[in-house]
Amino acid sequence: MKKITITLLAITFLSINFLQADEGMWLPMLLKNNYAEMQRLGLKLTPEQLYEINNASLKDAIVWFNGGCTSEIISEKGLLLTNHHCGYDAIAKHSTPADNILDNGFWAKSLADEKENPAMSASILVRMEDVSDRVNKALAGVDPKDVEAKKTEIFKAIQKEATEKNGYDATVRSFFRDNAFYLFVFEKFTDIRLVATPPQSIGKFGGDTDNWMWPRHTGDFSVFRIYANKENKPAPYSKDNVPYHPKKFLDISIKGLEEGDFTMVYGFPGRTNRYETSYGIQLATDKTNPATVDLRDIRLKAWKEEMDKSDSVRLLLSAKYASIANYWKYYIGQTEQLKRLKVFEEKQQSEKKFSDWAKNKAEYSAVLPTIENAYVDYNKYALHRTYVGECIMASSIGFYALTFQDLEKQMKAEKQDTAEINKALKALKGGVDGFYKSFNVVSDQKILASLTEMFYKNIPADQHPAYMAEILKKYKAKTTKETFEKFAAGVFKNSFMVHKADVEKFLAKPDLKKLQKDPAYAFVKSFYDNYITNIKPHIDAFGVVNNTQSSKYIKALMEMQPEKKFYPDANSTLRLTYGKVQSYSPKDAVNFKYYTTLSGVMEKENPKNFEFNVPARLKELYKNKDFGQYANKENDINVAFITNNDITGGNSGSPVINGNGELVGIAFDGNWEAMSGDIYFDSKYKRTICVDIRYVLFMIDKFGGASNLISEMNIIKN
Ligand code: ARG
Repeated sequence: MKKITITLLAITFLSINFLQADEGMWLPMLLKNNYAEMQRLGLKLTPEQLYEINNASLKDAIVWFNGGCTSEIISEKGLLLTNHHCGYDAIAKHSTPADNILDNGFWAKSLADEKENPAMSASILVRMEDVSDRVNKALAGVDPKDVEAKKTEIFKAIQKEATEKNGYDATVRSFFRDNAFYLFVFEKFTDIRLVATPPQSIGKFGGDTDNWMWPRHTGDFSVFRIYANKENKPAPYSKDNVPYHPKKFLDISIKGLEEGDFTMVYGFPGRTNRYETSYGIQLATDKTNPATVDLRDIRLKAWKEEMDKSDSVRLLLSAKYASIANYWKYYIGQTEQLKRLKVFEEKQQSEKKFSDWAKNKAEYSAVLPTIENAYVDYNKYALHRTYVGECIMASSIGFYALTFQDLEKQMKAEKQDTAEINKALKALKGGVDGFYKSFNVVSDQKILASLTEMFYKNIPADQHPAYMAEILKKYKAKTTKETFEKFAAGVFKNSFMVHKADVEKFLAKPDLKKLQKDPAYAFVKSFYDNYITNIKPHIDAFGVVNNTQSSKYIKALMEMQPEKKFYPDANSTLRLTYGKVQSYSPKDAVNFKYYTTLSGVMEKENPKNFEFNVPARLKELYKNKDFGQYANKENDINVAFITNNDITGGNSGSPVINGNGELVGIAFDGNWEAMSGDIYFDSKYKRTICVDIRYVLFMIDKFGGASNLISEMNIIKN
């Protein structure tokens, strides 16, 4: 009885039935059952043109970008299109006050100009395979608390077999909370060069004010290129490498879109939690989301203060700032929309329905009560868990100090292993440059003080590490605020980790006592160890119960609604979502059009606010209506548009493709009214925000003058 039969599940989630066309991130391998509906909506391609293993299909042009975004190949020479915010880190790293491509843009006019990016990757899917039977066999009879470890083991074995003879990269992923498992095999390229980027006044126009919002006027794109060795295979950077020759690249349509036109988005969505229970939602809205926002606030304010004082500090911290700010606003929006859309109440109702159905079923009747009960204990520790990432390790110095853990462990081992010590030292030496490149002392001291004070105030005293008492004693002052300021000042005065030269000296001649006595290390190690020893066991125990029961919950939901087509939560695997161009009404009496224009950019222009600056060159093109072949019927330029496709983080940079299989836009964001989308899909409000491909080409061609890139592409005009 216990063993889940995958065949049964397969039949359940493949059964053909109507579902909202827009909802669902489908595995391309299993798309056949959606095909009739896709055709009805306007798809002109065959299933084999979308996805086929043995012949080139659209999937060969979709590239997993740097493990966190999506990109697409748009020329025979491996030209890669993604979002500006996906290339942001690389663009910022190439920027200095003297050669500031983040602010001024960059357009390579020849291959020789393209900029190398260490540690960047682009992965193209070679194949995927259902490995459920094999994984299930390995997991059969395993104690629930050992399941994660066993999974890691069997995943590793499968991945090894899939890669050992061919140099491929592979990953096994769990679907429907361990109800199915798939293997994904990739060709992973690591010589990825920056080809073009607009200035951030275009690529990030609207900044954090407009982020996660529609109407939007951002030219959120950047251009890279995949390089391969002479055999067209992945190879580390070398000047002898050549542009990659793809199996497939996307044609580009500049015909434009109308409301209701078919669109699909192909990409690597990162994480959704659509089967989350009401208990989890309550914890997020009441506790962990607001805490994350408050803690991030501290970092953002401290960084901003220093960034405003100096351009070099601004360039140093820009990428960190953008990524923390992005999810700071995300959690504000998610909380607001979960409440506004009454998702908790909605989940409670469906859980009630489920409970009625499961009442007399031995296998399922205890599922929800068991989850609910597990949350009672978890609720006491969940905040501490949030604080690990957002507080304990969120100051740069704390984060950095913790990377010395392994060295300490090796040095204090009874039987010292020189090879292991050297390995730890090598890892630390390799991280030095990268760390000090984005380390700002002034802001980080403030951050350390405020974050530690937050911990003191908000984490229950019985969960504090012993070191907290030492801080309070040693740095005693009139107010707690001053106490923690004195503490941070002490750390920054005395820690050898504050200065690069001191760290280099230490690594040349490591000294265990010195490390253990270092105030940054002593602080972070005590807080972190306290978490590992006293808190994490509770989190893990919750995880075991929640995973086991959620797995049953999803299986039961499928049995309960045999007519419904289920799709798996996002897990950074290749998915396709389809739907159409669609406007929406965000609230009473307000209608949002489905597209924005360059005229709208000019309307938003504000020379006094850096988020809304417009570059002089763009104003000139606008004034002269110098739009070339990219103008719309009103002789304006379309900037962005919205569809009802179902995307999430990780889809950033994904191609938006029309019914003919041509590229019409790049997905780059979600909209405010549906920020709860990762947990609950609301078809009335949920939209995908895309930059219009005509705006991208206009920028490359007219603004950047990079006709060399335009001539590589296959542009379809009529
Ligand atoms: N919200 C977008 C996403 O997560 C990223 C936008 C980046 N822009 C910004 N202003 N931080 O895909």
